[in-house]
Amino acid sequence: MSSDTYVLIRDAAEAQRLERQYRAWQMNIGYLLHPAIEKHVKMRIADIGTGTAIWLRDLSGVLPETCQLHGFDISDIMFPNRAAMRANISLYKHNLLDAFPEKFIGMYDVVHVRLMIVALSFDQWEPAVRNLITLLRPGGYLQWADCAGHETTVKDAAGEITPSHAQHYLDLFNMTANAFGKTPNVAALYGIFHANNLQDCEEQIYPLVNPAAREDLNLAVLEGIQHVLIAGINLGPLDWIKSKDEILEARKAATDDLQRFQGWFSYNVHIVTGRKAR
Ligand SMILES: C[S@@+](CC[C@H](N)C(=O)[O-])C[C@H]1O[C@@H](n2cnc3c(N)ncnc32)[C@H](O)[C@@H]1O
Repeated sequence: MSSDTYVLIRDAAEAQRLERQYRAWQMNIGYLLHPAIEKHVKMRIADIGTGTAIWLRDLSGVLPETCQLHGFDISDIMFPNRAAMRANISLYKHNLLDAFPEKFIGMYDVVHVRLMIVALSFDQWEPAVRNLITLLRPGGYLQWADCAGHETTVKDAAGEITPSHAQHYLDLFNMTANAFGKTPNVAALYGIFHANNLQDCEEQIYPLVNPAAREDLNLAVLEGIQHVLIAGINLGPLDWIKSKDEILEARKAATDDLQRFQGWFSYNVHIVTGRKAR
C-alpha cells in the first residue's frame, strides 16, 4: 500500500467534524498562539494543512487587520467561501512537502501546523519540519499541535480504562493508519525541532480532560474514525473491515458502549514550539 496518501475524506461532514474537534481542543488548550510568541501589528502568519481555515479565522478575530494570515493546503475542497473570511486571510493550494514559492520564503513570524497524523507518514515529519523552517524569518516561530492516535484509550465515568467495542473501534483506526504508514511521530517532534537547529524549543502536553468538551470530543473521534475507515476501504482493500455497513455497525457498537458507561476517548495534544535562529 502506498504511504503517500491522505487517509481521510474531505467533504462537508468532515469539515464540520474538524471544526467540532478544533473547538473541543481549544477548550483544553486555551490559546491560539503560544504565550511566548510576541505579537505585533504587522504579523505574518502561515497555517499549514489549514483545512477549513478555522484556526486562521479565529486568529483573525483577535489580531489587528494589519496582520497577514495565509493558509496552505494540498486540497482546496474544504476552503471556506471568501465571504466567510476577513480580508486579511488568503488561502493557497500547496503540498507542505514541496518547496514553497520564493515569495513566501523567510516571510513568516509564525508557521502553524495542526493535525497531520493521517496525512504524514512516519518518515515525512522531519522533511516537513525542514521545509516549513524555510518559511520563517530569523527569530520566527514554528508551532505544531498534534496527537498520537495510537495512545488513545477509552475511559469510563470513574476514569478507569475499560475494554469495550469503543476500544475495538480505536483498534480498527490504528490498524488502518498503520497500513498506510501513518504511525504518528508526534513523540519525536520535539527532538526533530532540536535536530534542525530550532531554538527555545518547548513541548506542552495537554490531556483532553475538560468535561465540558467531552461530548464534542467523543463525537469528533467517532466520526473521524468512520471517515478514516471509509477512506481506508476506498484505498484498500483492508482485511479487518470491508464495507460501509460494517463501519457503521462498528461505530454504533462503540457509541452504545460509550453511552452505557459514560465513556470518553482519552488522549493528549502535544504542542511543540521552536524559533529560527536570529
Ligand atoms: C486533519 S486535517 C486538519 C485541518 C486543520 N489543521 C484543523 O486543525 O482543523 C489535515 C489537513 O491537512 C491537509 N493535508 C494533508 N496532506 C497535506 C500535505 N502534504 N500538504 C498540505 N496539506 C496537507 C488535508 O487536506 C487536511 O485539510
